[in-house]
Amino acid sequence: MIDPLKKLKDKKKLANIDAIGHVTGKSTYVDDIPTMQGTLFIKIFDSPVAHGKIKTVDFSEAEQMPGVVKIFSKKDIPGENQIGGIIQDEPLLADDEVHFRGQAILLIVAESEVEAEEALEKIKIDIEELPAIVDPKEAFLKGQFLSNSRTFQLGDSKKAFESATYIFEGSADSGGQEHLYLETQGAYAYPMEHGSIKIHSSTQGPTQVQKAIARVLGVGMNKVEVDVTRIGGGFGGKEDQANPFAAMTALVAWVLKKPAKCILHRMEDMRMTGKRHPYRSDYKIGLDKNLKIVAYEAAFFQNGGAAADLSPAVLERTLFHATNSYFIPNVVLQAHCCKTNLPPNTAFRGFGGPQGMFVIEAAIDHAARILNVNASDIQQNNLLKDGDEFPYGQIVEDGEAKNSWNELGEKYDIEKIRTSINSYNLPTGQAGNKNTFSKKGMALMPICFGISFTNTMMNHARALVHIYTDGTVGVSTGAIEMGQGVNTKMVQVAAREFGIAPELIKLETTNTTRVANTSPSAASATADLNGKALLDACQQIKNRLIKMIQEVYQLEESAPIIFKNEKITIAKNGKEIPWHQVVTDAFSKRINLSAKGHYATPRINFNKETGKGHPFAYHVYGTALFTATVDCLRGIYEIDEVHIVHDVGETINELVDLGQIEGGLVQGIGWMTMEEIIFNQKGKLLSNALSTYKIPDIYAAPKTINTSFLPLRADNLAIYKSKAVGEPPLMYGIGAYFAIRNAVHAFNPNANFEYVSPITPERVLMALYCK
Ligand code: MOS
Repeated sequence: MIDPLKKLKDKKKLANIDAIGHVTGKSTYVDDIPTMQGTLFIKIFDSPVAHGKIKTVDFSEAEQMPGVVKIFSKKDIPGENQIGGIIQDEPLLADDEVHFRGQAILLIVAESEVEAEEALEKIKIDIEELPAIVDPKEAFLKGQFLSNSRTFQLGDSKKAFESATYIFEGSADSGGQEHLYLETQGAYAYPMEHGSIKIHSSTQGPTQVQKAIARVLGVGMNKVEVDVTRIGGGFGGKEDQANPFAAMTALVAWVLKKPAKCILHRMEDMRMTGKRHPYRSDYKIGLDKNLKIVAYEAAFFQNGGAAADLSPAVLERTLFHATNSYFIPNVVLQAHCCKTNLPPNTAFRGFGGPQGMFVIEAAIDHAARILNVNASDIQQNNLLKDGDEFPYGQIVEDGEAKNSWNELGEKYDIEKIRTSINSYNLPTGQAGNKNTFSKKGMALMPICFGISFTNTMMNHARALVHIYTDGTVGVSTGAIEMGQGVNTKMVQVAAREFGIAPELIKLETTNTTRVANTSPSAASATADLNGKALLDACQQIKNRLIKMIQEVYQLEESAPIIFKNEKITIAKNGKEIPWHQVVTDAFSKRINLSAKGHYATPRINFNKETGKGHPFAYHVYGTALFTATVDCLRGIYEIDEVHIVHDVGETINELVDLGQIEGGLVQGIGWMTMEEIIFNQKGKLLSNALSTYKIPDIYAAPKTINTSFLPLRADNLAIYKSKAVGEPPLMYGIGAYFAIRNAVHAFNPNANFEYVSPITPERVLMALYCK
């Protein structure tokens, strides 16, 4: 077998250390952990209505079914029946009222999953149905909120609108998105000695899981050990929403003193868990005669679902990114966290940012269409430059908005692409037209995304490093490997610091006992925070080794000592000591070969009251160019080409970063074009399986994706200057929406269709023939 670590000598091309395990199916996930004898299986009885009062639940018959051990209700919870994170509004098991379809009411515990499923059928529930709200604007009008509304403000938009040459108003709505991680939610728990419990959870946030379990069981966090080898995708869906399933599993294991397991089936997962927040939004944009945006106002109505979950934080990030890559001097942004009877919506790659960016892009498109200019002219004319102020008070430093835009223009002849599209699209009947029922569109999409948790206190991390006496190294961090390749980057950090081969380093599971009080792997910040904590740990040990060498060889304190190629070299005299030798010597001199590292992002701050501060360590920028072809008979379309110039800083791993950029792009295209979450008026999820919910496959992916990395121009706070890459590329996907829209307008210039996403083939077909 080819070992990718050996094969790829170039460190920037170190293959994901999980690659072989993944393609051979050997990587283990929660459901792959061999079950212990006596393991019990859990099925969740969830609410069949979106809103109602539970009058009676009768599970006497279910309890008598073969194999059934116990049926849990909220009465069986020894601690608090509460798992709310930001706001305490979410019971683990339903109280007397249910607030969404899919809300957990009872847990059926049986000796096998099949027996639990059969017992589930025998439960009789009588619910008095109450009216359900599924639309955020309706919730707004009825005063139904999950948290306080928020406003970000800069300059004086009222005055600016008075002097604006052009003003456009409209609305733009974006849909939800199913996370569709390959591994569904699940956990496996077992009791340990002294009243403690160990749990394997498919979570992005092991500490959040630990907290939720401690709370539900009424025990200290020190009694709960959470262990995660890796997870099969998260995308934000397991930042908070692994908690309930872990807490249910722990509850059963704890009360019955037996191992217990709960793994959701796909349709259960889709029905019970929250998704990307659908938003409805209103905008007003003002431009001067030179197409400078002088004022922008927007109101965002977030569909939060039935409990707050992470919605208030997601809402805030919508405000942070509502002006995307543009400088707008006069801005009022308002956002409302609306309570509806849907499963609580949650983190999803971009965390509210994409929803905000879609609206400003719609506003620009609107202006461009009426003024008969290219949207890209308005975009380009308003790109951020150094010294500009974001609506939240941070000043642009080392901005790459213009650089990425210009570099894209240098690499690809944008005007030539535009000309060729225009000639392809020659009006029907015009000489030379061969494409009566096929039209092309193009769009540019700049992005700007702030890196750091917007909740400043979450921006710190720890790591634990052991060098064993044979010179091999064990690394534990708080990072969760979810397919994004963070463990590979962690291997690179330790390898680089110690100057040893990646093969000598093992990335341990993420475990709350080894690395405590972690922030979830989220906000694109995982490699930065954990990488820098790891760097600190490695450097602590290195410094001890350096001190030892200086003493042994009687060197002055400043004598340079180099760690490279499994050797430690004393620069002055060229003396080389093998890595293994140094480690053995250090151990025999009773030097500590272990260290705990810590990192807290410097400089950042944000005042939630004033809405001002310097919340982000840095920003990630980029620009993408899209071309699309629409079949004007059928309404179907293809994304032909995407050219991207992306700001990776100075990448430490090209393959991993490219994977994130392409994956994020395609997931963003999916959100904008084909992934359509549909709830009916009674809050029932209709797109409840992969037969009714389409995600992009290889055929729906762009035919060509060209990604180039913007050269590093300035230092930054990323790990080895290799900027965060998880979320930002998703927002390129917004460009696909506008490319398709422009193709539709080429066919039907009078198409008057709303800014609603996803732009499904059905919507395209309607627009092609609307008047
Ligand atoms: Mo991610 S959307 O910050 O879990």
